[in-house]
Amino acid sequence: MRYTGMMRDSILACNWKMNPGRRHEAETLYQGLVAASKALKASEIWIAPPTPFIDGLRERRIFKRLSLGAQDCSRFTMGAHTGEVSAAMLKEAGAQFVIVGHSERRAMGESDTDVNTKVQYALKARITVLLCVGEKLRDGDGEYLAVIASQVRSALMGVPKSASCRLVIAYEPVWAIGEHAAAPATPEDFRSVSIYIKKVVSEQVGAGAALSVPVLYGGSVSKDNAMGFLDEGHADGLLIGRESLKLSAMKTIIADAEALGRARAQRSRKHERTR
Ligand code: 13P
Repeated sequence: MRYTGMMRDSILACNWKMNPGRRHEAETLYQGLVAASKALKASEIWIAPPTPFIDGLRERRIFKRLSLGAQDCSRFTMGAHTGEVSAAMLKEAGAQFVIVGHSERRAMGESDTDVNTKVQYALKARITVLLCVGEKLRDGDGEYLAVIASQVRSALMGVPKSASCRLVIAYEPVWAIGEHAAAPATPEDFRSVSIYIKKVVSEQVGAGAALSVPVLYGGSVSKDNAMGFLDEGHADGLLIGRESLKLSAMKTIIADAEALGRARAQRSRKHERTR
């Protein structure tokens, strides 16, 4: 994550989930994103392919603004845990970040305690944690805020302030995820929740460190709504599911993030000159 004065790069994180089916398809998509990432100045592309593809793709990870990561890690470090892959093993395979606490893993039985253990092990392995939080339902009384606060507090329990530089949070309301989602959240929804998340994070790591923890939006992000979240919603980036499998859509999202970064840099230079 780079800072330019008060500006920060947008993180465009791609969660490929259990797609694409074939290695050569993953490579083609990846090559397209590598090509698109060559000229990046105001954004970074983070890609979380299925675990077996990470090692093969990292050979071609030649650009600083492109990161490879995993979609989950084990709550164990090693031993007799059939099917599990530890954070340290993912790091060796080339993962620079790991998604933890995704709602699709929580739906398969992952508890808040599991999420906290995974966060701790990933940080210990010196991998950046992309922690997902989000309510299942949006009520009219603000109860959903308590759900989000509790997910953030329990996930970060015991996490030292010094680890906050390797922490990114994605607000992914469950009701907005996937092709059967009612609708994406709005940029206003995101903006208020992201301020709230930073406040809860500050309880754990202090206000200064919390301000530097990027908060991304995820849930039915498309090339048509991405700019709204980045600009009006002030999102520090996006966690993109289905749309991240479409290279042409990703190119539009990348171009939008870059244009916004340039416009913000220009505004900030103008502001500096008039001070
Ligand atoms: P969709 O963008 O497909 O709704 O998925 C969002 C998501 O779960 C990203 O982690």
